[in-house]
Amino acid sequence: MTNPVNPVNPVHDLNGMNRVNPVNPVNPVNPVHDGNPVRGINLVTGATGTVGRQVVAELLRRGQPVRALTRDPGKADLPAGVEVVRGDLTDPGTLTAALDGVTGLHLITFGGACFAPLETGPRIVELAREAGVQRITVLNGGGPTPLEDAVRAGDIAWTVVMPVEFMANALEWAEGVRTRDEVREPFPGRLSAMVHEGDIGAVAAVALTEDGHAGQEYLITGPEVLTLHDKADAIAAARGREIRLVELSEAEAVGQWRAAGRPQDVIDFLLEMYRDTPPEGRTVLDTVEKVTGRPARTFARWAREHAGAFRA
Ligand SMILES: NC(=O)c1ccc[n+]([C@@H]2O[C@H](COP(=O)([O-])OP(=O)(O)OC[C@H]3O[C@@H](n4cnc5c(N)ncnc54)[C@H](OP(=O)(O)O)[C@@H]3O)[C@@H](O)[C@H]2O)c1
Repeated sequence: MTNPVNPVNPVHDLNGMNRVNPVNPVNPVNPVHDGNPVRGINLVTGATGTVGRQVVAELLRRGQPVRALTRDPGKADLPAGVEVVRGDLTDPGTLTAALDGVTGLHLITFGGACFAPLETGPRIVELAREAGVQRITVLNGGGPTPLEDAVRAGDIAWTVVMPVEFMANALEWAEGVRTRDEVREPFPGRLSAMVHEGDIGAVAAVALTEDGHAGQEYLITGPEVLTLHDKADAIAAARGREIRLVELSEAEAVGQWRAAGRPQDVIDFLLEMYRDTPPEGRTVLDTVEKVTGRPARTFARWAREHAGAFRA
């Protein structure tokens, strides 16, 4: 099932993911180009999204040339120094110019409404190869997708980035917290090793620009396992005002999600994950520190960075 919310990645077992360097059965060593100096343009897809903006920011911080793909450059609002180009991943013909001179490519696996998996994935990978791309990072979409499958089967050095629940998902609480000092959720005791999106971007940027990450699947978590109470408390501390956590029954939660326009398959997925979060969603790994050389960011820090969104 496609999972647009993706608090955890349900398809992979922890044994496989617990290693920072699991063996890649398709392409164990690959890496045609890994080991050679790579110094070209980095093209970031999904660059206007939660993770993509962080990949862009981290590449800029590293002094790398960055090109950002968007369907609407007028709305992209990306930092100075980023070359913004128009393109649509569902229409690979629009990508040829964007790929010109690109050596590093960060890919999302979906395109269009409801995070539909990109059926154009194999063609996108073919175009990347023709353009001379040397490294690809893929933001995993919660399960196998045609794009990720094509990347894994191809001969461009790849790294798959598999985050657990994003800290940014807490922004869904912002309106209720601002207007009612309240968070309304089911399963308040559920556990999450949620990850700061900046750390996802940092891992991707390292994999795009440094040697030694080809053929790796990086399951990325935050530094601690939190309940909803922990999260609400962190946001309350950051904004300087208490927050009530109102426990919803499953039926009430379903009603709230339906009213917010969530499709039934997403609702089913959320219930399944919240009732019984798989181990990989609630287990802390040291991937961020191993790959980037610095510890994963805490939720308290994330809450301070976003405190304004939770103040009336
Ligand atoms: N939320 C979680 O907790 C979580 C956890 C793990 C994994 N994930 C995975 O993360 C991914 C979502 O990432 P995100 O939250 O960073 O995304 P997001 O904030 O929803 O942003 C969507 C991005 O996709 C781009 N896009 C969509 N369709 C496109 C198309 N046809 N052509 C070109 N660009 C297109 C948009 O660009 P423009 O609109 O500018 O064109 C935008 O930059 C999903 O695969 C999800 O499964 C999520």
